[in-house]
Amino acid sequence: MVDSITVIAPAKVNLFLHITGRRDDGYHLLESLFAFTRQGDEITLKVAPELSLEITGPFSSKFTGNARDNLVFKAALALAQAAGIGAGAEITLKKNLPIAAGIGGGSADAAATLRGLNELWRLGLPFTELEAIAYGLGADVPACLYDTPQFVEGVGEKLTPLTLSWQAGIVLVNPGVMLSTPAVFKAFKEAGSHFDAPLACMEPWTSVLALTEHSQNSLERAAVSACAEVDEALQALKGLEGVQLARMSGSGATCFALFETKGVAEHVAQAIKNKHPGWWVMADELLTESTL
Ligand code: C5P
Repeated sequence: MVDSITVIAPAKVNLFLHITGRRDDGYHLLESLFAFTRQGDEITLKVAPELSLEITGPFSSKFTGNARDNLVFKAALALAQAAGIGAGAEITLKKNLPIAAGIGGGSADAAATLRGLNELWRLGLPFTELEAIAYGLGADVPACLYDTPQFVEGVGEKLTPLTLSWQAGIVLVNPGVMLSTPAVFKAFKEAGSHFDAPLACMEPWTSVLALTEHSQNSLERAAVSACAEVDEALQALKGLEGVQLARMSGSGATCFALFETKGVAEHVAQAIKNKHPGWWVMADELLTESTL
């Protein structure tokens, strides 16, 4: 019997993020293309009589609160409750990615925990059922259950899987600042920003060029107004050789740039690290096929 599983919670990248409206409860309606990297946080789950969570890794020191408040812990409890079983697992979260960074973070960790515990506890719940539990944990959590590109609508609950017909190397850069998602949405609202018209049809997004010409991250301006370093990161990425697209992910502050191959991305990432030793920089590729 398997009594230990390690799952990866990859970085979520919003290749674009359009804001199309606001619900009565204040949540914003969006249209977004989510894609995922190969690397991410690592979550090890072991069968145990009680639920526990230990956080390790380069970004573990950013967590100051009680482990019980972590979304990973809440995900385990929510899954156990939905399945009608006691929650017993020793969980270790290796935090490789920056937090409050616009690349999934707690949402991706929570989603990976649901996937992993569904297997460890041999629940066999279908993904549709996991999606409903995920939605109760946060708007981005359902999409993070998967690791392949998806068109996301509503506040994050309407998912349409997509195939991107191009491969991409990617460089992610975080200038070392944490940005609160509610604060960026608030700045967006207070600036009187207009809503994006919903996309008339599902763009095929057959090339990075189509993304560049027909989409943007509509939270970029609000994030830059809250945190000037976002613009510094964007300008640094835009100046790189071979860059196809440079944009902010989610509500920031992480920005990304796309390149033709992972090799090119690795090469230019080293140049950014040399120039900005205080920044977090990761080179990888976007997943086009599921690793699950
Ligand atoms: O659901 P999540 O915890 O990720 O959202 C954090 C906050 O970000 C919400 O309380 C809300 O202020 C804002 N938000 C929003 N519209 C979304 C997602 C988040 O306004 N679609």
